[in-house]
Amino acid sequence: MGPPPSPIPVAVLGATGSVGQRFVELLERHPWFELARVAASAESAGRAYGDAVRWVQDAPLPEHAARLVVEECGPAIDCPLVFSALDASVAGPIERAFADAGRFVVSNAKSHRMDPSVPLLVPEVNPDALDLLEQQEHGALVANPNCTTIGLVLALKPLADLFGVRRVHVVSLQALSGAGLGGPSALEMTDNVIPYIEGEEEKVAAETRKILGNVTVSATCNRVPVVDGHTLCVSVELEREATHDDIVRAWQEFRGAPQELGLPSAPERPTIYLGEPDAPQPRRHRNTGNGMTAVIGRLRPCPLLGWKFVALTHNTLRGAAGGAILGAELALVRSRDNQQQIRPLASWNAERP
Ligand SMILES: NC(=O)c1ccc[n+]([C@@H]2O[C@H](COP(=O)([O-])OP(=O)(O)OC[C@H]3O[C@@H](n4cnc5c(N)ncnc54)[C@H](OP(=O)(O)O)[C@@H]3O)[C@@H](O)[C@H]2O)c1
Repeated sequence: MGPPPSPIPVAVLGATGSVGQRFVELLERHPWFELARVAASAESAGRAYGDAVRWVQDAPLPEHAARLVVEECGPAIDCPLVFSALDASVAGPIERAFADAGRFVVSNAKSHRMDPSVPLLVPEVNPDALDLLEQQEHGALVANPNCTTIGLVLALKPLADLFGVRRVHVVSLQALSGAGLGGPSALEMTDNVIPYIEGEEEKVAAETRKILGNVTVSATCNRVPVVDGHTLCVSVELEREATHDDIVRAWQEFRGAPQELGLPSAPERPTIYLGEPDAPQPRRHRNTGNGMTAVIGRLRPCPLLGWKFVALTHNTLRGAAGGAILGAELALVRSRDNQQQIRPLASWNAERP
């Protein structure tokens, strides 16, 4: 499919935060979407984005974004497409209000992930979760899973399709950017590992089941002094026998709807296996596929569950802003192909020549 006739104006809620900044960065060069509005807390509202934000990305702050005035998060922001990077403590009612006002909302917060009518979407893994939108009454609300869940289900999906996945044990080594701008201080994290991330282990287990179905997941989540990139040490029990080569081939050959449709944010390959004995590593491999590819390595037998491996995903790109943008691209294409009526996007399309 070709691009929309003109870029769709989008709003970013929570635009000043760790994930919000990634949205601003990615939308600067997006072929279909145009950053039109930015919103955050009352403390930031009324200031130019460039003054309100404590920019921590390597890429320079885009000039157009720097000049936008930060607004408070209310449906007076009338963009048809809204990306939410709001703090989870406030996201729930704000995102609902935008959806009720007829907007297409893609959320990164935990608030609505387990609602039965909300798609918990990883575009390559469960694109048909978007069918759930038909159960929503006004606009549309789609949730991105937790950043650790995203890496895990990307690595498991090719195995689930071919061999079935019964049980999973995962130990995460999660980057600092995953804790947001107000995360642990340098004093707390230097020379240290924190073996606790509130609510994370429960989220990984429950969200993985919502996405992949009947899988038993035991998760242990740790915060480590890495800037970006969550590393997962995974043991897996498969339902059917598979050789080392079978499993590696499953990852190397895996493609999903975003690749078939040629979506702008789709990496050429959603999963890649590296054969080096010491891969993947966050600093060296997190930007693979523009930060959208899950990089897997160290596949070897596990005496407990059968197989074990290491998977790495970029938490604020694939695990948050990039994944949400890819989800919106998928929804837009489904809407334009009339495969599925997605109200806010369908009406935007209808208004165009
Ligand atoms: N970081 C990750 O890797 C990651 C990955 C997946 C999902 N998530 C989820 O994504 C969301 C954002 O995470 P983050 O790491 O970017 O957090 P963050 O750095 O703490 O940013 C939070 C954002 O929420 C805004 N905010 C706070 N209170 C508000 C209020 N009362 N009204 C309106 N806006 C308010 C902040 O605005 P001010 O600057 O004005 O305070 C800021 O823009 C969270 O729900 C998180 O769980 C994060």
